[in-house]
Amino acid sequence: MAEPVEIRKIGIVGAGQMGSGIAQVCAQTGYAVSLADISEEFLEKAVTGISSRLQRLVDKERLTQDDLDTAISNIATTTDYVAFGDCDLVIEAATENEEIKKAIFEKLIPALREDATLATNTSSISITRLAAATDRPELFIGMHFMNPVPVMKLVELIKGIATDDATYNAVNDVVAKLGKTSITSEDFPAFIVNRILVPMMNEAIYVLQEGVGGVTDIDGAMKLGANQPMGPLELADFVGLDTCLAIMQVLYDGFADSKYRPCPLLVKYVEAGWLGRKSGRGFYDYTGDKPVPTR
Ligand code: CAA
Repeated sequence: MAEPVEIRKIGIVGAGQMGSGIAQVCAQTGYAVSLADISEEFLEKAVTGISSRLQRLVDKERLTQDDLDTAISNIATTTDYVAFGDCDLVIEAATENEEIKKAIFEKLIPALREDATLATNTSSISITRLAAATDRPELFIGMHFMNPVPVMKLVELIKGIATDDATYNAVNDVVAKLGKTSITSEDFPAFIVNRILVPMMNEAIYVLQEGVGGVTDIDGAMKLGANQPMGPLELADFVGLDTCLAIMQVLYDGFADSKYRPCPLLVKYVEAGWLGRKSGRGFYDYTGDKPVPTR
């Protein structure tokens, strides 16, 4: 059985919100990064985003121009998993959809070294089930970053039933090198953070649907009354309403408990393509200078 090797080069699948954030922190802390997505356009957008976030840090004198240049030079982009052939760790950060993730693993695995560790940034799906779809369950682990990745301190680590302790230890070392703190969750639906956080957002959407309060009332209540940095509806828009719905569905199916039923208004928003910030509209309209509540 292959043992994990020391991690120097990290491959990242998916250059969206999460993947590009993960690429940024890995590159900033000195890892060589290979960032993959299906189109050059997504990759260019990701690198431009990373550069402008790093530039803001340079402007605030938190980073030198040299650090910025080094971080950017640490990132290579690719549309072909062949580039992952010398990666020690690959982190899958694609859409929160089990079939998509499994299809990625099928294409990705032939390109990997047999001792490469494979992590998934899934925010809710069973690690044991995803691991079983790969050729390396003992080298497979859940590595759940929070959004926005460069700011949030936590990484949840989730061992599947077959994950080796050596895999856990190697990935835990990476988390520490990234300057983040890990907590460990058992492999239950949505783990710890999202098991608690996403039903809270779902409940806020019920509160909105029932007319108990408007968007401003609900978010204001939780910001001022519970010291949350973002209200639950603003946070749902930030996370992406499709992701929130996918997580509620995993909880609902995984526990077969009606307390996790997705709010019908959330379902309707996703059906309408109102996915939050990324689509320009969710519980707020983001097309103007400032977000405007829509209800
Ligand atoms: N990417 C990188 N950095 C960002 C950022 C982004 N998208 N948004 C803000 N920042 C940085 C800013 O540059 C700023 O940095 P400095 O303090 O170093 O100058 C810092 O964050 C604070 O930003 P602002 O002053 O502009 O705004 P803020 O004080 O309102 O903070 C926030 C923004 C940190 C995002 C804050 O609103 C917050 O903590 N929100 C809650 C985030 C949260 O709960 N995340 C978890 C979501 S759940 C999840 O991720 C799990 C899942 O699977 C769904």
